[in-house]
Parts: sequence; structure tokens; C-alpha cells
Amino acid sequence: MKIKSQLSNIISDALKSANIKADDVVISDATKPEFGDYQFNGVMKLAKILKQNPRQIATNLVEHIDTTGMIAKVEVAGPGFINIWLNNEWLGKEVTAILTDDRVGVGYVQKPKKVVVDYSGPNMAKQMHVGHLRSTIIGDTLATLLEFLGDDVIRQNHIGDWGTQFGMLIAYLEEQGADGATTELKDLEQFYKDAKVRFDESPEFADKAREYVVKIQSGDEHCLTLWQSFIDASLGHCEEVYDKLGVNLTRDDVRAESFYNPKLAEVIKTLKEINLSTVSDGAECVFLDGSEVPVIVQKGDGGYLYATTDLAALEYRAKELKADRICYVVDARQGQHFKQVFTIAKQAGMVGENVALEHIGFGTMMDKGGKPFKTRDGGVIKLIDLLDEAVVKAKESIKERDAHSEDELENIATVVGIGAVKYADLSISRESNYIFSWDKMLSFEGNTSLYMQYAYARIQSILRKYDGEIEGDIIIGDETEHRLAHLLLKFEDTLSKAATDATPHTITSYLYDVVTQFMKFYELNPILKGGIDEEVKVSRLQLAKLTGAVINKGLDILGIKVVDKI
Ligand code: ARG
Repeated sequence: MKIKSQLSNIISDALKSANIKADDVVISDATKPEFGDYQFNGVMKLAKILKQNPRQIATNLVEHIDTTGMIAKVEVAGPGFINIWLNNEWLGKEVTAILTDDRVGVGYVQKPKKVVVDYSGPNMAKQMHVGHLRSTIIGDTLATLLEFLGDDVIRQNHIGDWGTQFGMLIAYLEEQGADGATTELKDLEQFYKDAKVRFDESPEFADKAREYVVKIQSGDEHCLTLWQSFIDASLGHCEEVYDKLGVNLTRDDVRAESFYNPKLAEVIKTLKEINLSTVSDGAECVFLDGSEVPVIVQKGDGGYLYATTDLAALEYRAKELKADRICYVVDARQGQHFKQVFTIAKQAGMVGENVALEHIGFGTMMDKGGKPFKTRDGGVIKLIDLLDEAVVKAKESIKERDAHSEDELENIATVVGIGAVKYADLSISRESNYIFSWDKMLSFEGNTSLYMQYAYARIQSILRKYDGEIEGDIIIGDETEHRLAHLLLKFEDTLSKAATDATPHTITSYLYDVVTQFMKFYELNPILKGGIDEEVKVSRLQLAKLTGAVINKGLDILGIKVVDKI
């Protein structure tokens, strides 16, 4: 349900019947509970245009606002704001209506878009690191969210599988032989280090590595086979992480850097033809307006760069995939790069005017000391180990709570542990850096996944305790129910905001509000105690059930699971 747009229609009608000309009516959330549920603050602007007293316009306008349905009452406040209260009967009817809806009242976007979401993008030469973890988690949520709202989403995993380091790596792979390679490739970081040692100590090996770079590029079969098996092994590591995370990325979503290799010469040709690039110091360069530092698109030795590949990818996504919106979920530190390639792609007509290009940047994951997240000896943290540790820690924190069987405990710990890592990442505004803290992310209190999962489990336990079918309407009886029902109906407005701004934390903050409000409601309105009128009891049970459904759906979009018992 789109509450704001419904309210704005009512206000537009009132403006019309009061003979006041206005274009778009924007409804805001009330800033304080005493100001009602919503506010219309557009009168001030109208007053300026009409050269009239704002309070007078507001007083006149409220006379024309329909208060027989959705709206219970309106009030003029301050110099000319209009405060709006929703009607309890209307609220009750609307929440009752979505009790049996598996989309819990969320509709589809009116004009579905074709959206490319570029996320994860690990480099095959090295272990996937925390930066890729963030991209994977945020990107997957964005893709799921847009898909849920009805967009046609194309996931793209732009893996780094091309470049000079692969010559060295496959030469070393060959040297190790099949068996040695399988064991060695278990630890990519180590494999890279060992290969580098060989490269530095043996000139013959180094020559071979260089020769192999050229051979991969020219399509030599032997080298390509070696290269492919290396990529398969490396991608396999990433897939283990995707699997543990429950992320929806498959091999079909991989459009690696190598995929664009055959298109790079064409990119340069286009740029030259329209004189967007020039040769400077032997390299092919694009000088963007106002910048003295060029974007290099081809080196003097003919080699291409990260930017060249991204230009080819932009063109492919716009022209072949026919995307209307392209989202890059990549570290904020690549902001400059994306600004540049977006500008060049548009100027060169590789991407149409109307295609939205967005860099969905995110900050760095820090340790407690405020330093980028590393192992104690300064190495890269293996993500698979991090996720396993999350499950172990989750087990510790839930083990004492209830009698669980070993299997049950394992399952709950996985759901809680993985959920905690994901939620911690999604719940901060994405552009900020954030401090990784096990204690904080595995807490039962505060804005954590466990808080939500626990509330969900508690609701399920309340529902289980009631014998009989829960059948009946939700009747709003007090202020806590009014607020809870209202929040539940705001789910769609929340999701559309999160989708437009690409901000998963809009969803987590919302869920936090829902659960907090549920606790307030439950504290004042006991459900299972004796002596409660059956109709009231059923209504409260239904409201609890709907709250559970919204928590479940919200977490599901964030890629987080729930359990019936914690
Ligand atoms: N492989 C890149 C990195 O690790 C990320 C790729 C992001 N996507 C892109 N189209 N550039 O930094």
C-alpha cells in the first residue's frame, strides 16, 4: 500500500475543490507523534505564489479535506502546516486485508525497469576480501529488492580474470602439475605468494610467465586451458562463500573482464573517431572537462586498462542487455573511476541519454582500532573462516537459552551467525565506514538481526500457544496498535525508498521500528492472558501474526533467514 500517494491524492482533491492551483503534493512523515501521522507542508510555498496568508489558505483547505475514510482528522499547525491523523477503522480494515497476502500488501512498480546490478566482482588472482564481502551482501539485497518490486534484474559478476598476473599464475600452475596444483590452490593467497617467489628467483620462469601472458591474449589453447582451470578453482572458492552467505549469484551471472577483451579495440576506435581521446606521452587518453589528469584508455604498449573494460561493459549493458538503470555496487574509493567512465560512455554515445548510471559506493570495514579489517598478522582475512567463526560465536550465545537438539542448535546458529554478519553490513548507511564487532552484531538488543529474529520466534511461539484457528479482523483499540498497524502498512513506501536510493539500511531501520513498536504493543496489550474478550484476543493475535510476516519478508529481502524458535 502506498500511503503517501493515497494521501497526496486526497489533498489534491481538496485543493481542487477549494479552487487552489497547485502541482505536486508532497506528503511528509510527521516529525513528532503529537503532529499526527503525516504532514502536508506545501501551503507555505502556495502562499508565496498566491501572495496570501498561509494560515488562511490552510484553514480554508482543511475544510475541503475528506475525513470520511482514510483520514480521521486534520489540523492546522504553526504558520500553515497541516497535520494528518489516519483513521483507526480504516487502518484496521487495511491491515486485515493483507493478512492473507503473501506480499504483505506490497504492490509492484508501475513501470518495471531493466536493471543491471554489478556486484561482488572478486579478483581471480587473489582471495576474495572483505571489500568484496560488502559488495556481495549489499548488491544481492539490492537485486532481490528490485526483483521483488517487479523490476527485471540482471545480475552481473564482473570478476577480474584478465591481466598480466595470470601469466605468472598459470606458469606456476603448470610447474606444480595437476596434483600439486589442486592442493596448492586451496589457499590462493599462498599460491600467489609462491608463484611470485618463483617469478623473482628464476629468470627463466619469469620469461615463461611473460610469454604466457601473450599466449593467453592470442588464444593459445594450452595456455587458455591452464588459465581456465585456474579461474574455475578460484571461482569455486568464491562460490563457497556465496553458498554460505545464501547469495544468488551463479556462473550464468559471470561476465568477466575477459568477456570484454574482444570488444576493447572497438572502444578505442569509437573514442578516436569522435575525437574524445588523444595520444599523450604515447598513451591513448581522454581529457575530461576541467581535468588535467587524463583517463588512460590504452597504454603505449597497446595494453588496455580497467577503465577500458568498464567502457565496453557499459556499452554491452546498455545496448545488448538494454538496461534502463545500471547500478555498480563497488567500494566508495572507486568513485572517481566511475564518474569518469560514466561521463565518457555518455559523451561517446555508448550509453543512451536516459540510462541511469549509479555508483552504489560503500565504506570500509574497520577493526576495533579503526584500521581496515585484517588478520592479526596483517594478512587478508579469509571470508570463509570469518563466516564459520560467525556460526561458532552464534552457537555460544544461543546455547544457554533453550534446550535445543544438536541439529537444531546447528541450524539456528547458522541462521543467526550468517544473519548477523549480513545485517551488520546492511544496517549502517552504506557510505560510512564501519567497525566490525562480534559482540555488537550478535547482541539480542539493539538494531541487530538477532533482535528481529528473536521477535519473530517469540511471535511464532505466541501463535503456537493459541489453540484453534486464528480467524477474525484486526480492530485497532489503542495508540500502540494504531502505530503498529500504521508501520506495517508503510512497508511498501519503505521498500520503494530503499530501492530508489539503493539504501538497504532504510529497510533495517524500518524493521527495527516495527519490532520496537511491537514490543510496546505487547507490553500494554497482553494476548494470551485469561479474561480477554475473544474478539480482542483474535485481533491482537492477527496483528502479531502480520508483524511476524512483515519481519520475515523484510529479512528475506535482506537475505536473512528466520527460525521459529531461538
Ligand atoms: N574487480 C574489481 C575490484 O576488485 C571490482 C569490479 C567492480 N565492477 C566493475 N564493473 N568495475 O576492485
